Amino acid sequence: MCGVIGYCGHRPAVPLVLEGLKRLEYRGYDSAGLAFLQVNKLEVIRSAGKLCNLEEKVAKTANTFAPVSIGHTRWATHGLPVEKNSHPHKSNNNALAIVHNGIIENFQELKDELLKKGYVFYSDTDTEVLANLIADELDCLLQAKFSKNYAELQTEIEHTPQLSAQYLPYVEEAFCNAIKKAYGAYAVVLLSPLIPRHILAARLSAPLLLGIGIEEHFIASDVPAFLPYTRDVVFLDDNEFVTMSAGSYEVKNIYSGEKIAKTVHHIPWDLQGAAKDGYKHFMLKEIMEQPRVLQECLVGRVQDDLVCLPELDTLPVPDSIRIIACGTSYNAGLWSQYYLEQFAEIPVTVEIASEFRYRKPILNKNELIVVISQSGETADTLGALRLCREKGYPVLGICNVLGSSVAREASASVYTQAGPEISVASTKAMLSQMVVLLLLALYYGQRKKLACPVKEILHELRALPDILERALPAMRERAKELALQYAFAKSFFYLGRGTGYSLALEGALKLKELSYIHAEGYATGEIKHGPIALIEPDFPTFALAFDDDNFSKVRSGILEIKSRQGRVISVLQEGTSLENDDIWYIPKTNLPEFLALPAMQLFSYEMADYLGKDVDQPRNLAKSVTVE
Ligand code: AGP
Repeated sequence: MCGVIGYCGHRPAVPLVLEGLKRLEYRGYDSAGLAFLQVNKLEVIRSAGKLCNLEEKVAKTANTFAPVSIGHTRWATHGLPVEKNSHPHKSNNNALAIVHNGIIENFQELKDELLKKGYVFYSDTDTEVLANLIADELDCLLQAKFSKNYAELQTEIEHTPQLSAQYLPYVEEAFCNAIKKAYGAYAVVLLSPLIPRHILAARLSAPLLLGIGIEEHFIASDVPAFLPYTRDVVFLDDNEFVTMSAGSYEVKNIYSGEKIAKTVHHIPWDLQGAAKDGYKHFMLKEIMEQPRVLQECLVGRVQDDLVCLPELDTLPVPDSIRIIACGTSYNAGLWSQYYLEQFAEIPVTVEIASEFRYRKPILNKNELIVVISQSGETADTLGALRLCREKGYPVLGICNVLGSSVAREASASVYTQAGPEISVASTKAMLSQMVVLLLLALYYGQRKKLACPVKEILHELRALPDILERALPAMRERAKELALQYAFAKSFFYLGRGTGYSLALEGALKLKELSYIHAEGYATGEIKHGPIALIEPDFPTFALAFDDDNFSKVRSGILEIKSRQGRVISVLQEGTSLENDDIWYIPKTNLPEFLALPAMQLFSYEMADYLGKDVDQPRNLAKSVTVE
């Protein structure tokens, strides 16, 4: 996720904005920049890579004591992580600069309109389109009111900044008019020489909050950006914008223009706590933000109840698919096999990358290779990708880091848009991979004109964020209870059948890597072919029993274990029942995996936390296994 910050006040704004960007680094980024007014001229300094590169450039700029500045750390979504794509972006006429976090879904059609009007674009970003859209709206208003556009007013403005008050309502109106035309989920902050003492900012589904100081105000994506200066915060809500200066701020509704009285909250967290949104660990934060991740993963990919994956439109519909990945990403791929075969009627094989690349794999004619990698840098997955590319096969990369090796070397890439995953244990990344893979199954079902239930599944997917949001607090309590009850265990079985099998593997992996308790994921139907010999009272089982055709068979597997004094935690969907002591109910939905996965993540998290393990950095593990 990008980080934005803006400052109006009595301190030198540029060093303060730089410092604030450093405190937003944990959000992950690949480039950065800032803007300020130097003698009422708009200055923008940007750099690819880490903040130290930006600092070096700023240090070479004439010492600025500008009292107003905006800054940005970019997590690339549109356009590679290079300087031309970094924020702030200026409008062609230098009337304004903006920084932005999120995605503008209809940026291409807006860009086409502006191109027809003669606007020029220097980047691949949706942000630059928004900057020029606002400037275009502003010129229309200035022309109507003053019979001059910005360029014609510029000299006067630069020499008489005190006149700015008369322009403020027009900049506000232009800002809102443009935002109403740009659809998507984003937060945007604007700086303009026309209003040299003010900053405008608006929120449309991406976080944005005000820091309320004494004769100074801050605007940022997250609290850490300004925590050393104030703990008094106003959280903007969707469709609200703020006009702020050193001594004042006003929040209004973008559509009605009505002023909104906002509550000022006092933040109790320390800096470290704030980066985790007040959660104890990044892993817990990333588990709990999965409803938003589900939502963001769908942004730009569903239109009129159809799936749109333009990244794949130029590739032929494959006769078979081979999914290759490691660890959690492998488990996500295994899960998707059911849906790809069911909805797209395409045969799927799922391979562990480190095994695949050292066989002499026989690939099929017109086979699509799909590599899945959160980091986009896993050595074995990359090795498999390169092997297939050398053989002339098209490779689809599903990853979370734009501009990563997988993203750059694949024939096409679809991003999971989950935002940076800081904790070593992969949680929200897997959920977002499952969304993309499910969309892929529906996409090919559409292209093959099969009678697959696209509309119904999309309806289920769109309902999930709300269902999960409401279920998570109780899930966490249940996970805590069960973790305490089963902390004695030295080994665990995780059982699942059908779409539950791959989740069982994932649940076992999570428990192993977080709490260091041995755990094995097994197909429920396999337990009686040997493993059941291990069952004893202190060798518990975690069983997924979804309300589907497999339920009765899973139920008998559970009863077989219980008849041998094995203890079982059964994850059931509301509305089903089982004679069992430890039942964990999850809300009923036709995609139960999207609820069972967070439940198992929370169980492992609570177990590890209770056992005092290093949750975010488990021993021996790296976030990205870039070695073989
Ligand atoms: C998951 O919790 C682990 N950290 C690990 O299995 C991880 O999924 C695996 O290393 C693959 O990483 P990638 O998705 O970045 O390729």
